[in-house]
Amino acid sequence: MHLKMRPVPIVNRTLDFLGESCEWLERNIVESLRDRSSCLISLCGGNTPKPIYERLATSRVIDWSKVWLSFGDERCVPPDHEQSNYRMAREALIDRVDIPDEQVLRIEGEFRPGVAARRYEQKLLHLAEMQNDTAPRHDIFLLGLGEDGHTTSLFPGTAALSNQSRWAMENYVPKFDAFRVTATYHLINESKKVVFLVSGASKAAVYERILAGESDDPAAQVNPSDGEVYWFLG
Ligand code: 6PG
Repeated sequence: MHLKMRPVPIVNRTLDFLGESCEWLERNIVESLRDRSSCLISLCGGNTPKPIYERLATSRVIDWSKVWLSFGDERCVPPDHEQSNYRMAREALIDRVDIPDEQVLRIEGEFRPGVAARRYEQKLLHLAEMQNDTAPRHDIFLLGLGEDGHTTSLFPGTAALSNQSRWAMENYVPKFDAFRVTATYHLINESKKVVFLVSGASKAAVYERILAGESDDPAAQVNPSDGEVYWFLG
C-alpha cells in the first residue's frame, strides 16, 4: 500500500505574529486572484485569528468581491451568540469588507447539529460544482490549535476524527457536553494551503511534538493530499 508522504511543513517562528501572518495571507490571496476569478478561504474560530481578520480587513490590495469564505467549524449557537465563530468573523472582517453575502458560507448553528451539518455540506457541494470539481478545494484553509491538540472541532476521541466520507459533520464534544459542526479531514486535506495560526506559550509543547512527528493529536493528522502546510507560531 502506498503511504502518502506528509508534506514538509513550512514553519514561521515569528517575531511579529500578527504582521507576518497577515503579510503572508494578503500576498497569497492576491496571488491566487492574479490568474483566477475567485479565492476560497476557510476561516478558523476562537480568539487567535480575530486581530488577524481585523488587520486583513484594512488591506488595500485584496479584491474581496472575488473572495469566498467558509468556516472550519462552528458552535451550535445562533449567529449573534457571543460564542459564534461566525459572529467573531462578521465583526472582525465580513462587515468591514465588500464581500457579497452569497460568498460567505455560514454554518447555520441555530439548526439542530445534524441538520446544520447537512445544510453546510450542500453549500460546499455548490462550491465544488462552481469549481467543476468533485470536492471543494480551498485555496487557503486556516486552522487553530488547542492545548489538547484539537483543530477545528476535531477533538481527541471524538467521532468526526474517523469519518472519511463527510466534508462536514456534527461532532459531540464530551469536554463541553455539546455538539459542534466541524470540517473533517476529508475536506481539510483537499486544500492547496493549510495554515495553522498558533500563538501563546501554552501551546508550544503541543506544536513542537507535532512538528517533530511525535504526536498523534488531531492537528497532527492534517495531511493535504496535494497541498502545503504552513505554521505561523507566535
Ligand atoms: C473553535 C476553533 C478552535 C480554535 C482553537 C484555538 O471553534 O474554538 O475552531 O479549533 O481554533 O480552540 O482557539 P484559540 O485561538 O481561542 O486559542
